[in-house]
Amino acid sequence: MAKDITPSLTAGAEDHAVEAGRKLFAGPCDFMLSVVNLDQLPAETVGEVAFAGRSNVGKSSLINALTGRKTIARTSNTPGRTQALNFFDLGGQLRLVDMPGYGYAKVSKPVVEAWTKTLKAYLRGRVPLRRVCVLIDSRHGIKDNDEEILKLLDEAAVPYQVILTKIDKIKKGELERRVQETTDRIIKHPAAHPVVIASSAEKNIALDEIRAGLALMT
Ligand code: GTP
Ligand code: MG
Repeated sequence: MAKDITPSLTAGAEDHAVEAGRKLFAGPCDFMLSVVNLDQLPAETVGEVAFAGRSNVGKSSLINALTGRKTIARTSNTPGRTQALNFFDLGGQLRLVDMPGYGYAKVSKPVVEAWTKTLKAYLRGRVPLRRVCVLIDSRHGIKDNDEEILKLLDEAAVPYQVILTKIDKIKKGELERRVQETTDRIIKHPAAHPVVIASSAEKNIALDEIRAGLALMT
């Protein structure tokens, strides 16, 4: 009997989390402010989840897809579109933070250095930061500058989850290998969630799962 009961309880809990995620994202979602210097950060009254990743990995697109608002976060083909920490408020329950990309961007080196410094300081020292979604392009996997951010989050004891993006662009076999390889790597990181999510903002893949995880952060 126990064999039958356990899976149904798990399934029930999952349904509940998905429903909570849907509700959270079906409510109001408003752009709050853009932060260039850390002295502009909003009051620490509500939990935050930040979206980090290399330039052009799809951070802003994922926020748009999750919230169902196609243009709330600005996206672009050109790496370096998001140049500040952009805060979005989900009905006063949670804030999403769209971060500038690290690594290569089509803007000047001093500008990239300045915002990289700001985003690292934010990730290291922000009290209401509940979780970081670290986005990795499914075509490329984890690179050296991703490792640097994972290490920073481990050292700051900030929990994070790796989300592979743009999986509509690769074949099933390649995706399976990428998920396995990424899982094997993050298992070595103490602050990483052990489950790697494979997503597509373009094709709406894994959005319910991500929303459900974020609803737990409220
Ligand atoms: P920066 O702000 O410059 O760091 O980039 P970003 O990480 O916010 O990426 P953004 O969301 O602007 O997307 C970059 C490019 O990737 C855009 O041309 C998007 O249309 C494309 N893109 C994002 N997500 C997906 C996806 O799931 N599938 C496909 N095929 N393209 C995507
Ligand atoms: Mg962006």
